[in-house]
Amino acid sequence: MPQHYKHLLAPGKINGLQLRNRIVLAAMGSNFADASGHCNERLIAYYEARAKGGAGLLVLETSAACYPNGATMPNMVGFSRDEFLPGLTELAARVHKHGAKLVAQLCHGGKMAQEDTAAGRKIPLPSLMSSGFSDMFQVLTRDEIGHFIKAAGPDGKGPQYYEMAQEHIDETVAGFASAAVLAQKAGFDGVELHAGHGYLIASFLSPYSNKRTDGYGGSRENRARFLLEIIQAVRAATADDFAILIRLDAREYRVEGGIELADCLVTARLAEQAGVDAIDVSAYGNTAHAIAFTEAPLVHEPGGFIGFAKAVKQVVKVPVIGVGRIEPTVGEQHIAAGDFDFLAMGRKLLADPDLPNKLAVGVPESIRPCIYCYICVSKIFINQPMCCAVNHSMGREYEGDILARSSDSKKIVVVGGGPGGMEAARMLAEKGHNVSLWEKDKDLGGTARIASLAYEPNERLVHYLSRAVKALPIDLQMNKTATRENLAAENADHIILATGALRIAPDFPGKQQRHVFDGDELRGVLFGTNPQAAAKLNRIYRLLLSAARMTQMLRSVKLLRFMSKIWMPIANEVVVIGGGLVGLELAEFLVERGRKVTILEPGTDLGPELAIVRRARVLHMLREHNVDIQRGTQITNIGSDKVSYTQEGEDKSVRCAQVIIAIGAEPDSGLEDQLAASGAQVQRIGDCRDKSFIDGAILDARKLVREL
Ligand SMILES: Cc1cc2nc3c(=O)[nH]c(=O)nc-3n(C[C@H](O)[C@H](O)[C@H](O)COP(=O)(O)O)c2cc1C
Ligand code: SF4
Repeated sequence: MPQHYKHLLAPGKINGLQLRNRIVLAAMGSNFADASGHCNERLIAYYEARAKGGAGLLVLETSAACYPNGATMPNMVGFSRDEFLPGLTELAARVHKHGAKLVAQLCHGGKMAQEDTAAGRKIPLPSLMSSGFSDMFQVLTRDEIGHFIKAAGPDGKGPQYYEMAQEHIDETVAGFASAAVLAQKAGFDGVELHAGHGYLIASFLSPYSNKRTDGYGGSRENRARFLLEIIQAVRAATADDFAILIRLDAREYRVEGGIELADCLVTARLAEQAGVDAIDVSAYGNTAHAIAFTEAPLVHEPGGFIGFAKAVKQVVKVPVIGVGRIEPTVGEQHIAAGDFDFLAMGRKLLADPDLPNKLAVGVPESIRPCIYCYICVSKIFINQPMCCAVNHSMGREYEGDILARSSDSKKIVVVGGGPGGMEAARMLAEKGHNVSLWEKDKDLGGTARIASLAYEPNERLVHYLSRAVKALPIDLQMNKTATRENLAAENADHIILATGALRIAPDFPGKQQRHVFDGDELRGVLFGTNPQAAAKLNRIYRLLLSAARMTQMLRSVKLLRFMSKIWMPIANEVVVIGGGLVGLELAEFLVERGRKVTILEPGTDLGPELAIVRRARVLHMLREHNVDIQRGTQITNIGSDKVSYTQEGEDKSVRCAQVIIAIGAEPDSGLEDQLAASGAQVQRIGDCRDKSFIDGAILDARKLVREL
């Protein structure tokens, strides 16, 4: 066993449950089940892949104990009736086949039970509450707002609540107990009671949402009573060695008077006394605030909840599970130090289900990294199945192994070494094809390199893919520009174009001036790959950049990210034209480097290409840095020290010393058109087919490889 991960990979125990290692798949609602709560092949194959990948314990996604009551997603697993048994049994068997254990996360959505609202059912709560102001709608695009329509319910009145009487409490407690019995019958090894994330049990625990004056409200002990009754009922109804875990919030972010760590510590102790076997320490962020979701539960700050797990560990004897953007190396250190006992990972195991096995065989560098783009969870927000931007096989495991070696090896040229090109080349080479990858620059990564400069997690993907490409028998040709002639001369069976978008900045009057860059020029200046763009700079800047180029400094994204914090050839007052993904991430990069930024967006939606949750985070950050964001602007002129525009018929202008045009990317069929006459089999993927960024490029690559 690799010594680096000896604690993480050491066997562990939760009650009678022997686990092969300390790695837990955190519960993640997938929306993969069928519309009537049954497990289907898509869902089963997804979990089976995570079991095969080596995790010790899988926590099934949030599932409705009292289905359909309390369901938070349209395609949620149900545990309330025997009819669910065959699917659940098959799921447990397929997970066990690979040596992993499985617990069901049982939940009642409470105020989040949007399926109750959609079906016209009233929602039970500990006490009635008024819905407060939500800033969520400010970050949604018009398209996305359409997905929230059903949240208004059949009569358009929105969620209707009722305060739970004793009989409702008793029914719900019994519902959890019989769901646990069903899980046991299906062969599950235990359950995780979801007592966090604003769901029903958490609403009882929270002093903000629980205003009861009976035995279920008031003191911490009273607020915990509902949870404790559920634990006791589950314990009484199931075998002694059936594991009972709970997920608790250590804090409710942006909830005034909500759960704090001190509440959580008391609840944890009481739960232990009531018979739970392990405590999974998470947190909640008030979903009325768009930014809160990246504070909790999908914490953006690496290891953001470790302190919470450590505090819980000090007050209980049962095992504690740490979660929240924790790297395996960090998890290893904390398990070794006794800060927690198990490491739950969510997003990392979406991006790479084989992470545990890769640690075990000592190849951590081959783990496909999560880039924290929040696309997975943003899909759930709009009631769609979860997907992963860097791993589009996630959720498609049921399609079988698309990398199985092909008996018909073909000669394939892939043009363009961005994420889409690298992913296609990697997969095709793994299938046994004879692959050449051509890249016109001297470094791999394409526009993802500049995206990496602005958003560091992207760099990990570029590294992962470059390393994978270099480790395979791929004929990698750098500094190679593809033309109709040199491609035709290859006589390839397939030519795959992953050359990126065509960038033509709109012809704004004044665009030719030296202080105006388009996205390509900016990239060329920063990475030292575009001498014409660099010629726009003054002499001193040019000298500094050419010195940096000569020392190869401009080739390292990491170094460039660091150096650009000290100096870069961009003036202090910048107007960014375009509030799409590129414009927003660029603005984020600039304000982090002390620039005063104004964004002028011609349309009404901001960052529609960014996943909702990531968009919310970027917009929040920009507003905190006083970035002036104007929508519905029509640029009329770029002057030497200002940009003029009209907005709602009014003439306006904004002062600046630098203008960056971050719009004007179009699909590019140029090379494909030129090759049409050659009769070659040509396919376009990624931005040159349709502007779709990393997510779309990786998806396109997979689709293509599956077909070839
Ligand atoms: C797509 C997605 C769905 C999630 N659904 C659930 C859920 O059903 N139940 C739950 O307790 N947490 C859910 N979470 C939170 C995760 O369990 C985990 O706590 C969180 O992602 C932080 O861990 P990570 O940084 O390793 O991803 C979800 C997270 C993601 C990314
Ligand atoms: S979609 Fe993005 S955040 Fe989610 S797991 Fe994949 S890479 Fe990570």
